[in-house]
Amino acid sequence: DKPWTIPDLAAAKRNGAKLAMLTAYDAGFARTLDANGIDLVLVGDSLGMVMQGHGSTLPVTVDDIVYHTANVARGLSRALLVADLPFQADATPERALDAATRLLQAGAQMVKLEGAGHKLEVIRFLVEREIPVSAHLGLTPQSVLRFGGYKVQGREEAAAKKLREDALAVAEAGAQLLVLECVPSPLAAAITQAVPIPTIGIGAGPDCDGQVLVLHDFLGLDSGHRRPRFVKDFLTEGGSVAGAVKAYVAAVRDGSFPDAEHSYA
Ligand code: KIV
Ligand code: NA
Repeated sequence: DKPWTIPDLAAAKRNGAKLAMLTAYDAGFARTLDANGIDLVLVGDSLGMVMQGHGSTLPVTVDDIVYHTANVARGLSRALLVADLPFQADATPERALDAATRLLQAGAQMVKLEGAGHKLEVIRFLVEREIPVSAHLGLTPQSVLRFGGYKVQGREEAAAKKLREDALAVAEAGAQLLVLECVPSPLAAAITQAVPIPTIGIGAGPDCDGQVLVLHDFLGLDSGHRRPRFVKDFLTEGGSVAGAVKAYVAAVRDGSFPDAEHSYA
């Protein structure tokens, strides 16, 4: 298979291809994901929780993401590599440009940032400077203090309307991918229809253009926290890490993951 490029994302949306994404933090897992059909790999700031043992993503630094991105990049030959801008690295356009430049120089092909609002200006600033951007809306974990916990977003009509508007706005600002986290399936489906860029769901139902899970959740490791509804252990089913990746890719492609049991109505 030929390596994924940024323009392939728009082509995937046009063709209705389903995208399978997982997080990774090191070269060994990256290699196994890459060899078994994963399209997109994310070096998420979830590393603050699953690698470092923190209770949130807020302590993660740009140095942390750069380190893991460099390691993951060495393990990939085909999958597209996305890296998170950690908490406040995107607070201003200039800070975001500095951090994103380091992430691309470490091997990322795209950076992801959370939210809309003042982040729209950040997205435009990066995209104009040749930095591909993924947006991330819904349950944005860097908003945990304001949210008061990790809760499904967009349940009320006003919140759903705001989420739809934000999704259109991040695409308009130049984002080329949109992660939707913990939003009711019908809302994620409506947003996926409305935006011209691929949506990647996590706890966002089966109708997104792709799916993402945190590697450790996908392997059934105990996070030390209450297990969110959308988490599925593919290791038991797959029998090995490679088998789990193959089972996940197949389930994302044929639309059997997530089912109703792993989604919010
Ligand atoms: O940090 C992360 O792993 C993420 C995914 C959950 C989308 O942002
Ligand atoms: Na993240």
